[in-house]
Amino acid sequence: MRESAKYLVTGAAGFLGSTICDRLLSEGKAVKGVDCFSDYYPLERKRKNISEALKNENFEFIEADLVEADLEKILEGIEYIIHLAAQPGVRRSWGEEFEVYIHQNIRLTQKLLEALRNKNIKKFVYASSSSVYGETPELPMKEDQFIQPVSPYGVTKLAAENLAFLYYKAFKVPTVSLRLFTVYGPRQRPDMAFNKFMKHILSDKEIEIYGDGEQTRDFTYVEDVVTAFLNAAHEGKPGEIYNIGGGNRISLNELLNKLGDIVGKDIKIKHIPAQKGEMTHTYADFNRAARDLNYKPAFNLDQGLKNEWEWIKKESEEIK
Ligand SMILES: NC(=O)c1ccc[n+]([C@@H]2O[C@H](COP(=O)([O-])OP(=O)(O)OC[C@H]3O[C@@H](n4cnc5c(N)ncnc54)[C@H](O)[C@@H]3O)[C@@H](O)[C@H]2O)c1
Repeated sequence: MRESAKYLVTGAAGFLGSTICDRLLSEGKAVKGVDCFSDYYPLERKRKNISEALKNENFEFIEADLVEADLEKILEGIEYIIHLAAQPGVRRSWGEEFEVYIHQNIRLTQKLLEALRNKNIKKFVYASSSSVYGETPELPMKEDQFIQPVSPYGVTKLAAENLAFLYYKAFKVPTVSLRLFTVYGPRQRPDMAFNKFMKHILSDKEIEIYGDGEQTRDFTYVEDVVTAFLNAAHEGKPGEIYNIGGGNRISLNELLNKLGDIVGKDIKIKHIPAQKGEMTHTYADFNRAARDLNYKPAFNLDQGLKNEWEWIKKESEEIK
């Protein structure tokens, strides 16, 4: 018989949400997952993400838009909230679509926090982003440095992070924010770079690189991110913000060389103009997470890339 869930994962059908649900279920925990199947990327991908979890009797799935849903009912018996539901992506956050970002990223987080004001939960862990930093000469990035996002998406992620802190200060809701640095691995979103690169390699298409390829990213493997969330839920200090990076900072040009070695092919590249909203560099100082959350990335880039490549090949075989 299903025991009552103590863990609520919002955005449970997404890349990170589904992987966190799978880990919790594999540890024998009962999990409630909520997702509205937003149309940011194909529904089939999200349904596939949670297909294994749905077979587990310890998993309860609710399809709902959390802005409209009955939060009192959803939060019944919940002790830990892992809040990932959001509209991701930097490029689409300009223009008319900003409305969606306000709804999914700011309004949703505020509603959840408001519903938690008088509840006795153990932790609310919010998925923030390296995109809150913006362009900065200070590298590696530290949690308490001056920050100024360069994309509307980053602005909404920072607004929600500030709300989480505010509800901790004003109402003692035990919130923790994790600033995630580009996550990759199996189930990575189809709009993210490695996923796109690998699919293009499979079909022998040119890979489009924004700018000169000298921009750098700190890539973080998905299983390390999952561990960070669970450790933050259990050990994170309320009110605190933690950088979660992979210790794998590399330029796109270097990355493509590495990828070429892994896939055993020459990669065709086309340079296109840099995009507004993209940061030039990301690089995490994660000493705070190491200290409080015992966070230590276990996956290096070679291993992580191989895992994602194997997954992409398998996925494309299944689609054929
Ligand atoms: N993937 C990364 O590299 C990365 C980096 C930094 C931060 N983040 C943050 O981590 C979180 C998860 O990212 P992801 O890559 O797994 O994205 P994702 O799009 O795969 O997952 C987000 C999920 O949230 C759901 N959702 C959106 N609005 C909702 C609503 N109103 N009600 C219920 N469900 C809703 C979507 O349907 C989707 O399945 C996001 O908050 C994102 O901003 C991700």
